Amino acid sequence: MSIIKTFLIFCVRVFFSVYFTVFGKPSINARMKRTLKLYATGDFAEDFQLIRLWDAPLSQLEKYFPRSGVVVDLGSGDGLLANYIAISNPKVRVYGIDINRDRVKEAQKGVRNTTFVTGDILDSKIPKADTIFLVHVLHHLPSKASQLKLLKDIRTKLKPKGKLIIVEINNAPIFKYIFTWLIDTIAVPILFEGGIFNSKIFYRKALEWEKVLSKLKFQTNMTHAHQSMPFSHIILECSMN
Ligand SMILES: C[S@@+](CC[C@H](N)C(=O)[O-])C[C@H]1O[C@@H](n2cnc3c(N)ncnc32)[C@H](O)[C@@H]1O
Repeated sequence: MSIIKTFLIFCVRVFFSVYFTVFGKPSINARMKRTLKLYATGDFAEDFQLIRLWDAPLSQLEKYFPRSGVVVDLGSGDGLLANYIAISNPKVRVYGIDINRDRVKEAQKGVRNTTFVTGDILDSKIPKADTIFLVHVLHHLPSKASQLKLLKDIRTKLKPKGKLIIVEINNAPIFKYIFTWLIDTIAVPILFEGGIFNSKIFYRKALEWEKVLSKLKFQTNMTHAHQSMPFSHIILECSMN
């Protein structure tokens, strides 16, 4: 592990142990407690899940969890969302696909109704699904054109009443947007990609996402989900027209 990565992990751990002591940890339900136990390794991976609960609108995604059928989490990372969905709804079959082999290994916690595979979501065969999640992934793809390619592909993979749920980054509020950009261009490469800076982050404004999705014949319902969170999140609930 590089010195920079070790130093960043140290700073993040110190910051959040103070922060959570002073302000309290994010509140979590019994199903999330069960999910977090899978990550109780005593190292940074464990701390990172709590930070993720603090910084990402996972609780707001619960209303999109289907009770049965197939869910695909594209760019599933270390599988927190996918494992949480699977634990919350035992009748659902959850597939996670991620390009990063190490993160896929971290995701494989042995939850019965999950399958995690390593693959490029731009090339991999995406299973037919009732619900597809794309959480903090589209802006990490190599170009805006590849975002469109993936969204077109997803349209063919969703069952007729299927839903695509996207979490992306809006350009407002501006301070949250700048903070998100710093995390995506500096912290993410150091922590997960083996680099120190990645300028190739392809955000689109909320209205631009709505236009793009409408052109692809998705009906979109957008929620601003940045209240009490550091990132300028939006959630796009997309149904087939
Ligand atoms: C910011 S992380 C988000 C992870 C997870 N969705 C979450 O919310 O915790 C972005 C993830 O997308 C994955 N990713 C980026 N490009 C990808 C691609 N072309 N195919 C598959 N996964 C990809 C990365 O490896 C990383 O795990």
